[in-house]
Amino acid sequence: MRNESEIPLADNPFSIPVADRLKRLPPYLFGKINKLKYQQRVAGVDVIDLGMGNPTDAPDQQITDKMQEALLDPKNHRYSVANGIASLRREVAKRYDRKYGVKLNGDDEVIACLGSKEAFSHMCLALMGPGDTAIVPAPTFPIHAYSVMLASGNVIALDVRDPSEFLKNIAYTCEHLYPKPKLVVANFPHNPSGTCIEQSFFDELVVLAKKYKFLVISDFAYADVCYDGYQAPSFLASPGAIDVGVEMTTMSKGFSMAGWRIGFCSGNREMVRALATIKGYYDYGIFQAIQIAAIIAMRNCEPAVDAIAKEYQIRRDALVDGLTRIGWEVEKPKAGMFVWAKIPEPWAQMGSIDFSMKLLKEGGVAVSPGRGFGEEGEGYLRLAIVENSQRLRQAVRQIQACLKTEAAPAA
Ligand SMILES: Cc1ncc(COP(=O)(O)O)c(C=O)c1O
Repeated sequence: MRNESEIPLADNPFSIPVADRLKRLPPYLFGKINKLKYQQRVAGVDVIDLGMGNPTDAPDQQITDKMQEALLDPKNHRYSVANGIASLRREVAKRYDRKYGVKLNGDDEVIACLGSKEAFSHMCLALMGPGDTAIVPAPTFPIHAYSVMLASGNVIALDVRDPSEFLKNIAYTCEHLYPKPKLVVANFPHNPSGTCIEQSFFDELVVLAKKYKFLVISDFAYADVCYDGYQAPSFLASPGAIDVGVEMTTMSKGFSMAGWRIGFCSGNREMVRALATIKGYYDYGIFQAIQIAAIIAMRNCEPAVDAIAKEYQIRRDALVDGLTRIGWEVEKPKAGMFVWAKIPEPWAQMGSIDFSMKLLKEGGVAVSPGRGFGEEGEGYLRLAIVENSQRLRQAVRQIQACLKTEAAPAA
């Protein structure tokens, strides 16, 4: 299975003359771990896989029932409307109003996409080109940087873990860089660090966007997965946001529909139109039966979304409390599907890739090394809470055993 961080192998030489843009991609960092994970599985090891934020739970039955019904209707097997059927786009607008008080016109301020990753990468292709610069959060969800690079743009990665510093650094970069950045990527709740913000962050970001004339893409993939009463704010709920940016949402996480490939880009109508133009050349839209089932999901299944978030909260507690009990202090995220864990002493000196290899080889637990999210991720691991609580408690026991079996590495 491909990790979301997987990219074409830049360190794997092609014997064909590939385009220069492929050569701009950095070396592939997850290869060693994925290979070992595969070997362990072939050898019969029951690997507890916390590597990828790939939901394991089934969507609500109303969604799958509707899908089955729609599947049997011959007219749903034709090419669908490229931007998504009108009733689906209106349903997205209604959900924005219900959840965030944001008024959107489904006709030209919402477009349906093959997941939010597709929406994000094609939006970068629509906006960025040689000489253009984008500010992305660091540590970096790889797609945020590589989509810009594949579009021939430049990337400036700014540490996002202190959101007010992030804002200050955006302003500083805009003051000192020429030409000024064209795009700022926001991603809260943040993957991988779990950093969360309040609405005031986006209010200030809009003010900066207007002052320095940059566009904003808010990647809101974890909008529906919030804990302890926290509600992640929508960028579009900030005054004037629609003048400067769009927001990507997805049915992958909150609705457990990751494999269905359905997400949305909503907001500024010029940006939505730019994305629609690019997509018009790349795809023919989403299978219509999926779009119809997605309407039912948004209309009827909010209780299931809440139940999924509660289940992740239980898992988060099982993992964080378990790690704390074995002496590994980690922060409880307020949202998202990941625990971002600082590698404890004396293991930190091993580096996140080798430490992840150790946990997999000796503990049978697969995690993502922080280094896979750029230099700022070094010294950390990202653990996805995609296995059930019992398996997560088992993972903690296996990690504990693995850290006990060997003497700490020499300094
Ligand atoms: C921050 C972030 N954005 C986007 C995505 C992709 O979501 P989708 O399934 O909608 O393409 C992910 C998936 O892991 C993610 O973590």
